[in-house]
Amino acid sequence: MNVEPKFRFCVIADCHFSAKTALADRVLIDDINKLGADYTMVLGDVSGQPGAGGPEMTHRAVELLNGLEMPWRNLIGNHDIEFEPIETDRENIVMWLRTHGYRLPWHREDRGPLTFLFLSNERFREHTLQPHEVYLTQRQLAWADDELKRCDGRPVVVACHAPVLGSNLVVHPELHVRAGNAYINQNHAPGQMMDLCCRHKHILFWFSGHSHLSQAHPNAIINTLGIHFVHTGTTSADWAREIKRHSRVVDVELERIVIHTFDHDKRAIDNSLDLVIPHSLEHLLAARQTRLK
Ligand SMILES: [Fe+2]
Repeated sequence: MNVEPKFRFCVIADCHFSAKTALADRVLIDDINKLGADYTMVLGDVSGQPGAGGPEMTHRAVELLNGLEMPWRNLIGNHDIEFEPIETDRENIVMWLRTHGYRLPWHREDRGPLTFLFLSNERFREHTLQPHEVYLTQRQLAWADDELKRCDGRPVVVACHAPVLGSNLVVHPELHVRAGNAYINQNHAPGQMMDLCCRHKHILFWFSGHSHLSQAHPNAIINTLGIHFVHTGTTSADWAREIKRHSRVVDVELERIVIHTFDHDKRAIDNSLDLVIPHSLEHLLAARQTRLK
């Protein structure tokens, strides 16, 4: 077995960068740089308080993330477009895009052996039930459907701020109880997301954050219908639930894939939380095809 990393990527979520956490935020960037990753996915909610979702906090976050020494890409979470002085969701999204230098909130990128698909929250003020529901429009879902058809055969990693209803991934049950926001499109036909997963048999991984929970929960990684749904914790010293600040480090090797937990307080990988998938990407693709015939 080849035990040398073939392709390593990091996943960080819910950074909520702020003046209060400035020192820890700089340490986070240094620590990620030391991991020798080929790529980093950022799962949104990079804005801290005060002024979350505004130009100042978005600029602060992008400046910090630009300190990463490998290619990285971010997506929009619920807090990233909640800045009250901006009047519309569209204007808030445009500000977020311009600050990042992106053209669209959604994105596909091929890196190493994987295709990465980024899906973004598009609504805050326009919500009538729950402003913090992570919401993908039908336009974005149609784009994802088309893009997934186009990259058929390549193993796909999807990134979105919130998880998929029906994945059985750990979520925080008390999030905004009156109208939930734990899952993507929770109050708007959430079953469309699992339908997307079922129709596209080359989706192998789905990474999400949002709940700020520790990655030590047994169902913080779960294989449902052949897809590994992976919860990513928070890096924030201010917003951590369960006093744990966790991120993901994923090694894709020839014959296996290892999903590690990086503990930001220990400033090291906590190998007691490793998940070893003893299969190649090709094997995982074949298993999904068989399972859904
Ligand atoms: Fe969130």
